[in-house]
Amino acid sequence: MTTHQAPFTALASVYDAIMGEIEYDGWAEFVLTFLRSEGFTPANVLDLACGTGNSTRPFVEAGLQVTGLDLSRDMLLVAQKKLPEVNFVQGSLTDFRLSERFDLISCMFDSINNLLTHEDMLACLGHVKDHLTEGGWFVADVNTRSGLRDLWEGGVIEGVVPAEDGQDVHYHWSHHYDEDRELGMIQAFFRMEDGSEFIEQHTERGYDPQELGDLLQKAGFHDITICEYPDYAEPDEDTPRVWIFAKVKGAKRG
Ligand SMILES: C[S@@+](CC[C@H](N)C(=O)[O-])C[C@H]1O[C@@H](n2cnc3c(N)ncnc32)[C@H](O)[C@@H]1O
Repeated sequence: MTTHQAPFTALASVYDAIMGEIEYDGWAEFVLTFLRSEGFTPANVLDLACGTGNSTRPFVEAGLQVTGLDLSRDMLLVAQKKLPEVNFVQGSLTDFRLSERFDLISCMFDSINNLLTHEDMLACLGHVKDHLTEGGWFVADVNTRSGLRDLWEGGVIEGVVPAEDGQDVHYHWSHHYDEDRELGMIQAFFRMEDGSEFIEQHTERGYDPQELGDLLQKAGFHDITICEYPDYAEPDEDTPRVWIFAKVKGAKRG
C-alpha cells in the first residue's frame, strides 16, 4: 500500500543520497566571498530550512557559530546526527522566534520557494529582519517563475539510492507546472526494499527578481543585490535561479 506523507518526511532518509552532487561548498564560498567584498565577516549564522544540514555544514567548517531551523522533524534528526555540535531547532519560516540574533541568515536550495504567497514571504522576511544583528545580511537562492516552469514542467527523475538504514530505495519524482495557479508541483514517490511505498507532494512558487526586490524593500531591507551563481552576474528574463543578498540597517563591520 502507498502511504501519503507530509513533505520532507519520508524524503529525510534518502535526501542526502539523492543530493550527493549538489555544490553546497561552492554555495557557501559564494556567499562568504560576497560578504567579504562588502567588508563583512559574520560570526554567527542561522541556516533557515536547513534540512539535513547539508547547507549548514560548510558554515560550520568555515568556523561560524551555527544554528539550523527547519519545519521537518525527520530532516532535523538526520542533521543533528551529522552535526552534533550545531543547535538545530524545529520551526516555521513564517513564524520563528529565537532568543539570539544573527549576523547572517541563510535560506538555501530554493527552500524559500515553499512559501506560496506574498503574505507568507513577507511574514518570513519580517522574522528574518527581527533576527538579524545591526548591519546583518540575509541570503537566499530562489527559483524564478520561468525557472520553475522550465525546470519542473513534465520532468521526471528517478533512481535507486541507499537510504540511511542501508535499504535500497527506488525514487521516482514527477514534476508538473500548474499554469493557472503558477505553482510547480513534485509528486515524490519512494519504494523501499521491504516493499513499503510513500508519496510526498511538494509545491513551490516562483518569484521574479523585480518581485523579490519589491518584497525585500517592503520588508525594510536595503543594499539589495539579486544575481546569478557563480559569477554574481545580473539576471535576465531566462535566469532560472537567482541569489538575493539583502541587508538590515547598521554600520558595516569587519
Ligand atoms: C530542498 S530542502 C533544502 C534543505 C537544505 N537547505 C539543503 O540545502 O539541503 C527544503 C527544506 O525546507 C524545509 N521547509 C519547507 N517549508 C518550510 C517552512 N514553512 N518552514 C521551515 N522549513 C520549511 C523542508 O522541511 C526542507 O528541509
